[in-house]
Amino acid sequence: MDILKAFDEYESAALAAIDAVKTPDQLEQVRIEFLGQKKGKLKDLQSLIGKATKEEKPAVGKRFNEVRTRVSEGLEAQSAVLASGPPSQEPSFDVTLPGAAPQLGTLHPVTKTIVRFRELMGRFGFEVVEGPELEDERHNFEALNIPNDHPARDPLDNFYIATARATSGGPVLLRSQTSTVQIRTMENQPPPIRIVSLGRVYRPDTIDRTHSCMFHQMEGLMVDRDVTMAQLKTLLTLFARSFLGPDVKIRFRPSFFPFTEPSVEVDMKWGDSWMEIGGAGMVDPNVFRAVGYDPEEVTGFAFGLGIERFCMKHFEVDDIRRFYENDVRFLSQL
Ligand code: FA5
Repeated sequence: MDILKAFDEYESAALAAIDAVKTPDQLEQVRIEFLGQKKGKLKDLQSLIGKATKEEKPAVGKRFNEVRTRVSEGLEAQSAVLASGPPSQEPSFDVTLPGAAPQLGTLHPVTKTIVRFRELMGRFGFEVVEGPELEDERHNFEALNIPNDHPARDPLDNFYIATARATSGGPVLLRSQTSTVQIRTMENQPPPIRIVSLGRVYRPDTIDRTHSCMFHQMEGLMVDRDVTMAQLKTLLTLFARSFLGPDVKIRFRPSFFPFTEPSVEVDMKWGDSWMEIGGAGMVDPNVFRAVGYDPEEVTGFAFGLGIERFCMKHFEVDDIRRFYENDVRFLSQL
């Protein structure tokens, strides 16, 4: 019977459409299309009932009700499924496979160098102390025998902080050298002293292969009776060999620092040339006087090493800027 066939077709088309919907809006469209009271497909079906013969009528009527109920039950069931959110899915990956290894961080090469420096100097019997990066002029200059008219104090050669004042009322600057910590240590404790201090220093230097505006120094200070220049040279040579290997070549050149006398500059051989790695010397009597030590009683040596320069040689990196460009691919290889 054609009428029943039309009912069958309506039923399977409606159920397939219901099955295919993904959102409540789509479901509503399907409802209007198949069950809508005004011009939905159900209306067409209903009009078919009138065309059935008297004998056919009971079966056709029964089937009509059946189809209508099925379709509205299907709509309800799908509506409940959509309301309960996305169906819980079987995982689409194999949980037994090994996971992707997380990328682990590493220490920055300069930090690695600092850690190793501390360790080595600890073995030489030097205690590690800290000092502030913001300093007053007494600790950065005056007590270090750097007088007011000295070119090192030129405001253009230092990072003065215009908006801050020291407790003494004087200007404040980012320290230009770790020698400040020599003064702070001697102000706070009597001799003998054997300390190192590692940290950042700041200078408005022109940036190039070996110069940065922010870099790190390791300051060393040893004060006792009868401390000698020979001990200083031995210590620095042994230190450089411990860090860079027994073949490293170090040389000492006579130089000048206001806070040491005599003074030397220390160079390290790299390829065919020499790279300056630090300054050093015997503590000037004026520095001892500035901190209340008696220069007749004690002697001492001090040194300040450029940490990045050692780091460059150790990792064979020929440009200091590479440490500060934050190129993780480069840094993580070191
Ligand atoms: C000083 O800073 C002295 N305070 C060192 C010192 C301490 C001498 C104790 C005597 C007694 P100098 O300015 O030369 O000295 O710097 C020391 C080292 O820091 C240099 O040899 C170099 O290795 C490093 N250095 C200096 N300027 C820079 C810079 N702009 N970038 C990277 N490293 C630098």
